[in-house]
Amino acid sequence: MSLHARDADLVELMDDPACDPVQLRRTLRRFRTLNPLVSGWGRVYRTHIRPALAAASGPARILDVGCGGGDVLRRVVAAARRDGFAVEGVGVDPDARSIAVAEEAAPVAGVTYRRIDSAALLREGARFDVVISNHVLHHLPADGVPGFLGECAALASRIAVLSDIRRSRAAYAAYAVGITPLAPGSFLRTDGLRSIRRSYTAAELAAVVPDGWVVERARPFRLLAVHRGDAA
Ligand SMILES: C[S@@+](CC[C@H](N)C(=O)[O-])C[C@H]1O[C@@H](n2cnc3c(N)ncnc32)[C@H](O)[C@@H]1O
Repeated sequence: MSLHARDADLVELMDDPACDPVQLRRTLRRFRTLNPLVSGWGRVYRTHIRPALAAASGPARILDVGCGGGDVLRRVVAAARRDGFAVEGVGVDPDARSIAVAEEAAPVAGVTYRRIDSAALLREGARFDVVISNHVLHHLPADGVPGFLGECAALASRIAVLSDIRRSRAAYAAYAVGITPLAPGSFLRTDGLRSIRRSYTAAELAAVVPDGWVVERARPFRLLAVHRGDAA
C-alpha cells in the first residue's frame, strides 16, 4: 500500500449513514481521548487563537464547524477562559449522532451545539470571531474543499483555523501502533488509517485552498489551513 497519492476514494466506516450505531458512538466518545493526543489544539490555541482573542475588545464567540462530539471546542473554550477571555462556544454538525454525543458530555457553561452545516449557518447570516475545525477537510470530496473553506472564511471575522492530518508513512506507522489500546469495539483503527490515506500533504492542500488561505505544517503530522478575516 502506497501513501504517495491521496486515496480519495476510500470511504470511512463512520461516513456510512447505516454504520453500527454502538461502534459509532464509542468512536465519537473516544475522540475525547484521542484528539488531545494527536490533534495539537493546545499549540494552535497558543499560536493562533489566543492572539486573535487578545485583539478582540469584548466577549468573543468561537465556532467549531463539524464539531463531532465537541471535545475540541470544549478544550479551546476552557483554555481561553483560563487566560481570562470571555468566550462562548458553538459547535455545529449536520450529523444528529454527533450532536447527541456532544450533548451528553459534561456541560460547559456557554458552550452549545446545533445540528446544522456550515452552508446553512452562513445563510442565516451568522458570524463568529474565531472559527475552528478539526478533521473535516479530509472527509470532504476534493471539489468540496474550496466551498467549505469559503464558508468558514465568511463565518469568521478574525480567524479561521482548520486542522487536519498531514499524510505520511511515518504518520501511518505511528497511528497503526499507537491506536491499539483505544481501538477495540470502535472504528478508530480502520477509520484512522483510512483518514491518513485520505488526508493531504502540505503541497496538495495548498493547491486546493482558495485565495486568502495559508497552509501551515504543524507537528506532529498536522496541517493547518488559516484565513485571517477583516477584523484581524
Ligand atoms: C471526523 S468528524 C470530526 C469530528 C470532530 N471535529 C473531531 O475532530 O472529533 C467530521 C465531521 O464533520 C462534519 N461535517 C462535514 N461537513 C460539514 C459541514 N459542511 N458543516 C459542518 N459539519 C460538517 C461531519 O458530519 C462529521 O461529524
